[in-house]
Amino acid sequence: HWTAEEKQHITSIWGKVNVEECGAEALARSLIVYPWTQRFFASFGNLSSPTAIIGNPKVRAHGKKVLTSFGEAIKNLDNIKATYSKLSELHCEKLHVDPENFRLLGDILIIVLAAHFTRDFTPACHSAWQKLVGVVAHALARKDH
Ligand code: HEM
Repeated sequence: HWTAEEKQHITSIWGKVNVEECGAEALARSLIVYPWTQRFFASFGNLSSPTAIIGNPKVRAHGKKVLTSFGEAIKNLDNIKATYSKLSELHCEKLHVDPENFRLLGDILIIVLAAHFTRDFTPACHSAWQKLVGVVAHALARKDH
């Protein structure tokens, strides 16, 4: 259900993404903008201020992990549900993350990419990425394992 153009827009941006930088930034921004998500990361230590969140090495490491996992979705665009089957079990059944939060993180990721890639992040590009983060959120939220 992807057009050749959509795939092209996704992979051309992805090829330039620094997963460590953008992953850390996306996770830190979500923890700041949606502070209720902090409760899932109590074991990460000091999240008491935006500066603490941005400087927290566990936030950085986990942000990299999350964005690296987006890379798996991009490698398997036609098979994202199966790719995320274990991860959806973890997030839904074990961690009980409200699925709305997957969408919120996806939207933040788009903001981070747009900020990093300004001119390359065209409306068509935005639209392909918006679709991708929606499919990822849906795959993570699915209940039918
Ligand atoms: C763990 C991906 C969203 C909470 C993980 C892991 C990955 C991942 C790859 C590591 C799994 C492992 O170690 O086997 C993603 C992706 C998301 C997403 C691709 C895209 C939207 C969220 C959201 C929350 C969340 C929105 C909560 C608000 C967690 C927690 C862990 C975790 C608490 C375990 C952390 C730890 O203690 O190591 N996620 N995640 N995730 N995720 Fe997510």
